[in-house]
Amino acid sequence: MEKVIWDETFSVGVEILNEQHKKLFKMLNKMIDAENTSVNSEIISTVLTEMRQYASEHFALEEKYMLEYGYLDYDSHKAQHKEFLKKVSMLCIETMHQSKTVPTEILEHLKLWWTTHILKTDMQYKTLFNQMGSNSMVHVKISESALSFNDIADK
Ligand SMILES: [Fe+2]
Repeated sequence: MEKVIWDETFSVGVEILNEQHKKLFKMLNKMIDAENTSVNSEIISTVLTEMRQYASEHFALEEKYMLEYGYLDYDSHKAQHKEFLKKVSMLCIETMHQSKTVPTEILEHLKLWWTTHILKTDMQYKTLFNQMGSNSMVHVKISESALSFNDIADK
C-alpha cells in the first residue's frame, strides 16, 4: 500500500496543527510499513493505541481553537473527531484478537479518514484560524502547550 505523504495541499496554515497532522501520517506509515513484513498484531495495536492517544490530544487542540475563534461548525466537526476515536478503539480491540497480517481494511480506513478529514473538514477552518491566529495571543499560548506535548509524544 502506498504511504501518505504530507504536502502543501494538506496545509491548514497553522504550524502546530500541520506538525501534528504530519506526525499522524508518520504513525499511519509505520503501520503501512508493517503491512509487508511478517507482522504481529501487537505492533499494530501499539501504533493504533499511540495514534488514538495522539489524535485525541490533536482534536482537543483543534476544538480549543474552534471555541476560541467562534467557529460555527464546531459541533459537527467535534462529532467527527468523536466518531473517529470510537472507531479506533474498536479497531484496537479487533487487532488484539488477530494475528500475522495487518488487515488492509484498517489501513485503508485510516488513510481515507485522515486524508478526507484534513482536506474536506479541517480545510473549512483554515481561513478563520489564519485570520484570528495572527492577532491572537491565545493562539501562541495554546501552541506552546501543544508543543510541549509534541516533545513528550516524540519520545
Ligand atoms: Fe479535525
